[in-house]
Amino acid sequence: MIYWDKEKECMPREELEKLQLRRLKETVFRVYAFVPAYKHKMDQAGVKPHDINCLEDIKYLPFTTKQDLRDNYPFNLFAVPMSEVVRIQSSSGTTGKPTVGGYTKRDINEVWAEVMARSLVCAGASRNSVVHVSYGYGLFTGGLGAHYGAEKIGASVIPASGGNTKRQIMLMQDYGSTHLACTPSYSLFMYEVAQEMGIKPSDLKLRAGIFGAEPCSENMRRDIENKWKIDAFDIYGLTEIIGPGVAIECACKNGMHLAEDHFIAETIDPLSLEVLEPGNQGELVITTITKEAMPLIRYRTRDLTTLEKDRCECGRTHMRMQKVLGRSDDMIIIRGVNVFPSMVESVLLNIPGVEPHYLLIVDRRGTLDELEVQVEVSERLFSDEVKKLEGLGALIRKELESALGIAVKVRLVEPRSIERSEGKAKRVIDKRKF
Ligand code: DLL
Repeated sequence: MIYWDKEKECMPREELEKLQLRRLKETVFRVYAFVPAYKHKMDQAGVKPHDINCLEDIKYLPFTTKQDLRDNYPFNLFAVPMSEVVRIQSSSGTTGKPTVGGYTKRDINEVWAEVMARSLVCAGASRNSVVHVSYGYGLFTGGLGAHYGAEKIGASVIPASGGNTKRQIMLMQDYGSTHLACTPSYSLFMYEVAQEMGIKPSDLKLRAGIFGAEPCSENMRRDIENKWKIDAFDIYGLTEIIGPGVAIECACKNGMHLAEDHFIAETIDPLSLEVLEPGNQGELVITTITKEAMPLIRYRTRDLTTLEKDRCECGRTHMRMQKVLGRSDDMIIIRGVNVFPSMVESVLLNIPGVEPHYLLIVDRRGTLDELEVQVEVSERLFSDEVKKLEGLGALIRKELESALGIAVKVRLVEPRSIERSEGKAKRVIDKRKF
């Protein structure tokens, strides 16, 4: 097994937890001293930095929410003067102001590039690899995050960014790219374009993909792996925390190892806010313990996942988070039932003839919510007899209704008719007026 930093990644848990506690205490002292918003919140909660004496004491610290980020927009959560800040990244978000990420030189080199280097090595990359980065470069953290990590391990980086897909395929072939970093949905679009160009996976040297930034069901991963004939690794992260590299899958593909020497992870029940034992699905809460510019304490990510602490066969001791089901704000409530696009995806990709491109359209007729699932079918099926298509539509509806527990309308649409994305795919159109 090859590691980027075996000492850190395979650290005995006892030692790891000691390190976490020391770093947590330092972070809490720093935010209390330098970030008025944190001092205020902690004072209100009646907790002082010296109250944190063991890891479990983290539960006394107040949560940080998206609303806190908004209230302190843009830079009021920074714990260092602007003269120390060397980079600002942000994520657009759906409404209002962007979410900010601020970095000192050390945050970039010793934290972000470090966890990304770890992630890439975990996905099999090395100094001999050619890493093709098709995450967007710019304010989005995907491109620059993967870039710095790949440079750190000494790989040859192709900073392709998103877009101009034909050219990307040509470059991948000409430059012998071995690793592709992009969203899972973009990798599927790239595959379609490669096919149109008459380029087969065997014409390329691609071996693995580092795919993240959006949910990707196990079935979707399998589809990508079968099409591209590569290993697909799920990578997780978010701008507020650092960007990509918070967690990455190893070759066992049994959850993503969270970089626990940099981040402390908890899961909570999003309603009661009670901390959950590992093994129970809940909202992921992350505390950064090495970041200088913008440390976050018990940040509620709104991502739903399960943490696993049992030992992984790869030898890494850091806990794993299971694939993210979705963000709580991606969840749509239809007639009282919670539906995540990833649940629909799992069902669809189990049905032969269905393409991995779909869209959920929610509308309200009178007082009743309706869910229509638009699904692309394969070229071959689409040109088949109407009867076969009807049969397929009925089968999809039956499977979806049994998995979701609500009535669903299914519309089979022509191949290539659902908009492709170069970044995060849009899976839901909610036409209801609230
Ligand atoms: O998406 C950072 C990133 C870039 C991660 C490239 C991985 C690869 P944001 O734009 O701030 O940052 O969006 C963060 O995306 O809270 C999740 O809801 C979702 N997300 C990120 N990674 C995954 C993943 C980047 N592997 C938000 N699976 C997060 C599911 C993911 N959802």
